[in-house]
Amino acid sequence: MDLQCFLCCRAALLLLLMPCGLYCMSVHILNEGPMYVIPGSSLVLEARIELGPLERISLVTWEREPESGVGSGKEILATCPGSGSKCAGKRPNVHGNMQHQKTTLQINGYSSTDSGVYAVMVTDQRGVNTTAHCIVRMYEAVHHVSVSINVSHSSLICGEAWGTDPHFSWLYERVAISQAVGTVSKDGTTLFVTRKPFCGHFTCVVSNKLGYSSASFSAAPCETEGRGTTAAVVCLVLLLLLVGGVLAFLLWRRHRQNRRGQWLHEHLDEAI
Ligand SMILES: *[C@@H]1O[C@H](CO)[C@@H](O)[C@H](O)[C@H]1NC(C)=O
Repeated sequence: MDLQCFLCCRAALLLLLMPCGLYCMSVHILNEGPMYVIPGSSLVLEARIELGPLERISLVTWEREPESGVGSGKEILATCPGSGSKCAGKRPNVHGNMQHQKTTLQINGYSSTDSGVYAVMVTDQRGVNTTAHCIVRMYEAVHHVSVSINVSHSSLICGEAWGTDPHFSWLYERVAISQAVGTVSKDGTTLFVTRKPFCGHFTCVVSNKLGYSSASFSAAPCETEGRGTTAAVVCLVLLLLLVGGVLAFLLWRRHRQNRRGQWLHEHLDEAI
């Protein structure tokens, strides 16, 4: 083996040992999609670019297109020429930045029209493009909460239409569900009612970062408590009547004794 071949083999080996070849540009967006952004707040997307040893970034472009294919098509939001530069935003509320191998896009005052598929496209000095995508949607308030009953399984099911990241909780007669009333499924949407009899008012509250909404289910009124109260009222009335009667009787007797005393007195006087 001569020296030339040895060097050649070493160079080949080095190339093989490198994570990728000489050209291996890649880009990925660090935010996990889909992202949900509250209207009026800021959207910040961050992307990392990996380069091969012979590659240089010549252009980074941030763009967006509608998620469902309808609408105005692709829109360029910002372009950044090479590394260490400010990017040119296409609108006053859009800012881009490019530092080392990291690029960011910031949109202030997010609105529904800013939703879509965001793409960052990196072009190297040879004009080769690499792209990464991230879906961005608007954070929606809780909508249309409803409660339905599954009679055969003594359970109540809470539904919600299209709010983002809904959290479900349950109330029974306006207090949090206790073990005596029932158990809630892991995702919170179903309440298995163990209380016997199945009666009273159940409420499902659905909340997220923008607020909450609720719906109720009214089973038959709880009889036992109703009967108890009625019985107590009847007892009280009877007791009052009894006391009244006894008092009236005592007064009447006293009155009669008084009159009799008077009569005896008068007749005795006459006799004397
Ligand atoms: C009631 O719940 C059970 C168990 O989750 C389910 O199999 C059944 O289909 C439900 N019935 C109705 C009418 O939704």
